[in-house]
Amino acid sequence: MAKSSGGNAFVEFQHVQKSYDGETLVVKDLNLSMPKGEFLTMLGPSGSGKTTCLMMLAGFETATHGEIMLDGQPINNIPPHKRGIGMVFQNYALFPHMTVAENLAFPLEVRKMGKSEREEKVKRALDMVQMGAFGGRRPAQLSGGQQQRIALARALVFQPELVLMDEPLGALDKQLREHMQFEITRLAHDLGITVVYVTHDQTEALTMSDRVAVFNDGRIQQLAPPDELYEKPQNSFVAQFIGENNTLEGVIKSIDGDKCVVKLDSGDEIDARPVNVTKAGERTKVSIRPERVEFNKSRLQKGAHTLKAEVAEFIYMGDIFRFRLKVAGNNDFIVKTRNAPDAVRLTPGSQIEIGWLAEDCRALDAPACDERARHHFGLCLCREHDARQLGRCLSGQPDQGLFGSVHCREPRHHHHLGRKLG
Ligand SMILES: Nc1ncnc2c1ncn2[C@@H]1O[C@H](COP(=O)(O)OP(=O)(O)O)[C@@H](O)[C@H]1O
Ligand SMILES: [Mg+2]
Repeated sequence: MAKSSGGNAFVEFQHVQKSYDGETLVVKDLNLSMPKGEFLTMLGPSGSGKTTCLMMLAGFETATHGEIMLDGQPINNIPPHKRGIGMVFQNYALFPHMTVAENLAFPLEVRKMGKSEREEKVKRALDMVQMGAFGGRRPAQLSGGQQQRIALARALVFQPELVLMDEPLGALDKQLREHMQFEITRLAHDLGITVVYVTHDQTEALTMSDRVAVFNDGRIQQLAPPDELYEKPQNSFVAQFIGENNTLEGVIKSIDGDKCVVKLDSGDEIDARPVNVTKAGERTKVSIRPERVEFNKSRLQKGAHTLKAEVAEFIYMGDIFRFRLKVAGNNDFIVKTRNAPDAVRLTPGSQIEIGWLAEDCRALDAPACDERARHHFGLCLCREHDARQLGRCLSGQPDQGLFGSVHCREPRHHHHLGRKLG
C-alpha cells in the first residue's frame, strides 16, 4: 500500500496521470499535496485537465497511473459515496422532480440517516445559504442564483470534510457571482472544510483561494498563494495567464547573480531578473507588470537601461491612468499609474523613455509558438473569458483567430478581440 509522503497532507496526488483513450495523457505527472482546511483552486484554460482531476478525486474516474490519497489512505478502494466528499457543479444538477428539501435530504437518505436527524440537517443547511423559506419549492421555481445556493447546501448537508466545486458560479451574472464567491469562502472557513475549487476565471481564483494551482496542458505550471503567483510567475504561461502583463522577447546577453541584461529582438538592451534562464545566449521572454514600469528616470537606479517609447493612447480610468505605448516593436505595451496629484497625463504622440528595476522584470522561458498561440486563442484578451465564451471553440485550431476573427460573446469585450491576436 502506498504511503503518504506529505506528513499532514489531507488530499494528495502522487505522480497521477490520466488518459481516456490509452494514447494521449490529459493529466501528466500531477503532484499535489493539500493540508486540511485549505481552499485550493485549480485554474486554467478549458481542456487543461481540471475537471478530470476533480473527477478522479471524487472517484468517478480512475487514474491511469499514480495514486490519490485522502487523509493518508489511497482512495482507489473506496467507492465515491463513502469518500465523504461533497460536490457542486456549474449546472447545479438538482433533481427537478424533487422539492428543495427533498433534494437536500437525498444524500442523507443514501447515508441511511433517520428522518428527524435528516430534517434537522436539511434545515441547517438551508439556513446556511439563506434559503430557509424555500424548502417546499421545486428547482424550476428558483432563479439560477438560488438553485446554485441549493446545490451548495446539498453539498454541505452531510457535513463533508472535503468539498469539490467545478466552476460552480460560471452560469451566474457578475454581481451574483461576486456575492457567492464571498459566501463560499466564508462558509468554507467557518465550517473548516477543505475545498478544491475549479475555475477558469483568474479573479475568482485570486480572491477566493489560499493557494492556486495554474493548469495548462495537463500539468500544474505553478502552485502558489495568489500574491506569489502574480508577483513571481515561474514561467511565461503563468505570467501571461495571471493578471495583465507586458512581454518583450530577446536573448540573454549577460547574467550576474540575480540580474541580467537582455538584448531584445529590436536591438535594445534592458535589465531583468533571470528566472527561467541560466546562461548568455538563451532566448527569453521577459515579463513586466504595467504598474512596475517607470517613466520618471530619476527614480531608476544609476546605470539602468531605458527604452524609447511612443505614447499611443491615454485612457483615464478615474483611480488610475492607463497608457498604451509603442516600445521595442511591441505596440501594446501597457503602463498604469495611480492618479496621484503629481501624476503626468502623457499625450498621444509624445516620445518618452521608460525603465524599471531589474527585479521587476522577469526573464522567463521563451515558449514554443504553438503554446503561445493556444494561450492567445484560448482566451479573450480581457482575460475574463476562455474559449467557451468565445464565438467558437478555439482549442486545437491555432491558426484561427490570428487575424482577430474571433469574438467573445460578451458585447462589451468585442473590442478586446478586434485587434490582431498573437
Ligand atoms: N470523458 C472523457 N472522455 C474523453 N476525453 C475526455 C473526457 N473528459 C475530458 N476529456 C478530454 O480531456 C482533456 C481535459 O479535459 P477536462 O479535464 O474536462 O479539462 P478542463 O476541466 O480543464 O476544461 C480535454 O482534452 C478533454 O477533451
Ligand atoms: Mg472543466
